[in-house]
Amino acid sequence: MDLIAIVGLMTIIYTLVYMIFPWFLDCDFNLAFHERFGKPISSLKDKVVWIIGASSGIGEHLVYVLAENGCKLILSARRETELERVKNNCLQRNANLKSCDIEVLVLDIRDLDKHEPAFNSIIAKFGKLDILVNNAGQSQRSLWENIEISVDREMFDLNVFSPIALSRLVAKYFFKMNAGHFVVTSSIAGIVGAPFSATYCANKFALHGYYKTLGIETLDKNISITMACPGPVYTDFLAKAFTGKSNEVYGEKTKNDTKNKMSAERCATLMGIGIANKLLEVWICKRFVLQLVYLNIYYPNVGQWITKKIGTKFLQYLRDSEVKIKTNTKEKQ
Ligand SMILES: *[C@@H]1O[C@H](CO)[C@@H](O)[C@H](O)[C@H]1NC(C)=O
Ligand SMILES: *[C@@H]1O[C@H](CO)[C@@H](O)[C@H](O)[C@H]1NC(C)=O
Repeated sequence: MDLIAIVGLMTIIYTLVYMIFPWFLDCDFNLAFHERFGKPISSLKDKVVWIIGASSGIGEHLVYVLAENGCKLILSARRETELERVKNNCLQRNANLKSCDIEVLVLDIRDLDKHEPAFNSIIAKFGKLDILVNNAGQSQRSLWENIEISVDREMFDLNVFSPIALSRLVAKYFFKMNAGHFVVTSSIAGIVGAPFSATYCANKFALHGYYKTLGIETLDKNISITMACPGPVYTDFLAKAFTGKSNEVYGEKTKNDTKNKMSAERCATLMGIGIANKLLEVWICKRFVLQLVYLNIYYPNVGQWITKKIGTKFLQYLRDSEVKIKTNTKEKQ
């Protein structure tokens, strides 16, 4: 075999490895490696972590993972009773935690004037903040052409501008301390896009833009960023998802399909490992979706070709485990 053939063969083997290995993983290689050989989540013990969007879904389960590993937590969301429920669960899961280690701090992240008093109350109580988790946000299901511009505005407000405003406030504090860690719940939809969630995808892509720039501006500072990108996860997020119309919620039940969807517990554990190891970007999803992401990022031409072959319908099936929306027909069938 001549050199070119050997190089060609190695390229094919390399590609196959990337296509075959994800079949057995539920996250990207780097995160899977760190799960086995990296720092354990318990290395985050005694860190002060502020989680926005802590009352349900992935955020709620991340709270439990961090509580079990001895973090001090500030739980923020809009609904106080839900936050109190999450706090009580934490105290049950880790008997070493005292009630004062977990603070319920009701906050509507869109209320920008409340950011500073909320942040000041945390510093007054805990003396410091180590990690900010921007997890608040809502998904969307709608045909691209049917989205009202008012929905775009509302979603950018909630999913992008509000967490960015809060991060700017916290960034100044992190810079002063020369230490700090931003954790952002993005999505696989923020890496490769996804059908019937145009604004949501744009929100997540925008977050990557904001934090990538922050990363570049803080290369010489002791600041970490972790962009957590979950794929299909089983939580109740479709009930409250946006559609294309203002003041409308999608109101569908999320299908519990363990073949394609990951549990919120597993997703939160993987996020915890990503945080403990300060990984910059982590992909958290099962096979098919994981392979599609690898293809689209590392082999965009092949990825595009395969995505076209698979088609919109199958992509929707991978994501929602059912096909509810069809292109070029009525919105809900
Ligand atoms: C960098 O930040 C970490 C916490 O995120 C801290 O433990 C460490 O001491 C800091 N290093 C320097 C050089 O300040
Ligand atoms: C989802 O389904 C799996 C398998 O059937 C089950 O073990 C799990 O408890 C279900 N999750 C919820 C939240 O109902």
